[in-house]
Parts: sequence; C-alpha cells; structure tokens
Amino acid sequence: MSETILVLGSAGQVGTDLVSTLRNIYGGSRVIASDIKPVSGSMAEEGPFEIVDVLNDSSLTAIFSKYKPTIVYHLAAMLSATAEEHPKKGWELNMDGLFKVFDICLEYKVKRIFWPSSIAVFGPGTPKTNTPQNCVMDPNTIYGISKLTGERYCEYYYNRWGLDVRSIRYPGLIGWKAKPGGGTTDYAVDIFHQALDKGRYTSFLNKGTVLPMMYMDDAIKATIDITEAPADFIKIRSSYNIAGFSFGPEDLASEITRHIPSFEIAYEPDKRQLIAESWPQSIDDKEARAHWNWKPDYDIERMVSTMLQNLKSFASSK
Ligand code: SER
Repeated sequence: MSETILVLGSAGQVGTDLVSTLRNIYGGSRVIASDIKPVSGSMAEEGPFEIVDVLNDSSLTAIFSKYKPTIVYHLAAMLSATAEEHPKKGWELNMDGLFKVFDICLEYKVKRIFWPSSIAVFGPGTPKTNTPQNCVMDPNTIYGISKLTGERYCEYYYNRWGLDVRSIRYPGLIGWKAKPGGGTTDYAVDIFHQALDKGRYTSFLNKGTVLPMMYMDDAIKATIDITEAPADFIKIRSSYNIAGFSFGPEDLASEITRHIPSFEIAYEPDKRQLIAESWPQSIDDKEARAHWNWKPDYDIERMVSTMLQNLKSFASSK
C-alpha cells in the first residue's frame, strides 16, 4: 500500500530537508508538508502544504481527517535557547504538542510515528565523553526536560497502547538548506554563512566547547531509516543515541580556514555557553548501529567541504 506521510513542523531546519528527501522517494503528492506559518517556494509547490497548529485540536483533526496519514513525522518544537527565554511556551509546545499528536495518531491508527529527541536529555551529571545510551540523565534546560519527558512518553505509549513511535537523540545538526532557529548548536551553521559573506565570525560559544554534531544528510538518513525499519529492529522505544562527529568552534574554524585561508574567528560567549556546558561532548551510538544498521557517511572534513560547496552554488544560482 502506498503511504501517506504527514510532516508536522515542516518549515524548520530538519523539516525543510526531510520534506524534499521524502518527496524524492515517495513523490510530491504523498508527502503533506505542514507548519504553523505559510511557506513559499518548493515546499509549497512540489506537494500539498497545510497550515497546522499542533496545539489546536480542531486544526489537527482537520488535517488528519483530510489526509488520513499512515506515517507521521512530528517535528514541531521549540529549541533550547528560545525555550530558555520562554520556558512556559517551550514546555507547552514541546509537551502538549506531543500529547495531542500521539492521541490523534492513536485515533487515526497511524502505522508509524517519528519524534526527535536530543542530546539535551543529558545534563551535568552525565558522563561527558562517549556518553552511553543509559546513564545519569539530569537535564537542566526546559528543552532537555521536555525531551526526556517526551522519551518516557514514547516508551509508555508503545507499551500501553502499541503506538509505534521511533525516536533518535539528534546531536547539533548542520545543513545548508534552512537555517536553524533558537538552538545552542546553531553557531555551527551561522559560521558558514558569515565565513562566505564576511570572512569572519564571532562565536557565541567559547573555544574548547566540544559538542556532538552531524551533517544534515546523515540526520535525514537516520530519520527515514529508523522510521522505515521493521518494527522488531527497534528494541529501544524511548530514543536512540546517534553520533556523527564532535568538535569545538576552533576546530570548525580551522577546517574552514583550509578552504578560506583568510577566515578569522573571535569568541564572545553568551548565555548559551552554560547550556552547551551541560551537554555531552561525544556520544556512544552502538545500539543504533547494532539494531537498525546506523552508520554516518560524513566526517568533519567532508561536512565542511560539502557545506561550502552547496552554499556557494546556491548563492551563484540566485
Ligand atoms: N540543536 C539543538 C539545540 O541546540 C539540540 O537538540 O537546541
């Protein structure tokens, strides 16, 4: 049977790449993109696009009854730095949104659901390097608390109601198609835009702040692979650790300098520094590798040259 795929929160950093990849696989008309705000360009032109507010029951009912999706990717959320500015709104969107989407997926008998968790589920008490799947998890940001609670919900809904939710803990994601909004790892995307526009970048995270990161194509591959894997491959029903590579701002800057020799970086850490310091530096993803054959394709060298190449050709095509 051909699937009908609904992506909630399509206009965000992950959604933008996910919708175009899914439409290449399944065809434009099978992938319904949706967001709380209107979009323009290919997302609206290459397949259905609908305005959906995941906090509004009648808005959710309208889209589920119109399309009767068989697979749902629920990406609508507020990231770490913005959620620290608006903790109540962050909690409401990340948690109430999740409850409402899970409940309507049960009602409409959706076959499979993907929901992203994050390295933000870890906290100051977590082992910093090679962080295992299960360990002390004491997140101290509202975003991290919402993601850890969400993970428990995923497992609970699977065990209690049989809802087939799959989840991964995204590290910082680096892509060129859409800019991220409100995350602590966003510097690793902004730096490329500034390097090409101005030849210099002032980082809001300090030198030495090593975080787990991943190129967007690998994140999209992991997202689609886990969602399409046979159900018995998925042995962890909360959320899987996955890893790409780890670096600090100075490592990324020196890799960019290999392509743009005059590039310069300066450091002006702000509030996001504390968030970054509460997170792991590297992740052990052996369960994802063993259970559903996860393996990244990109290291930092390949990620940097691909980012620069794509951003340059995008700029010259405008
Ligand atoms: N990239 C996210 C953030 O920085 C973490 O999942 O908020």
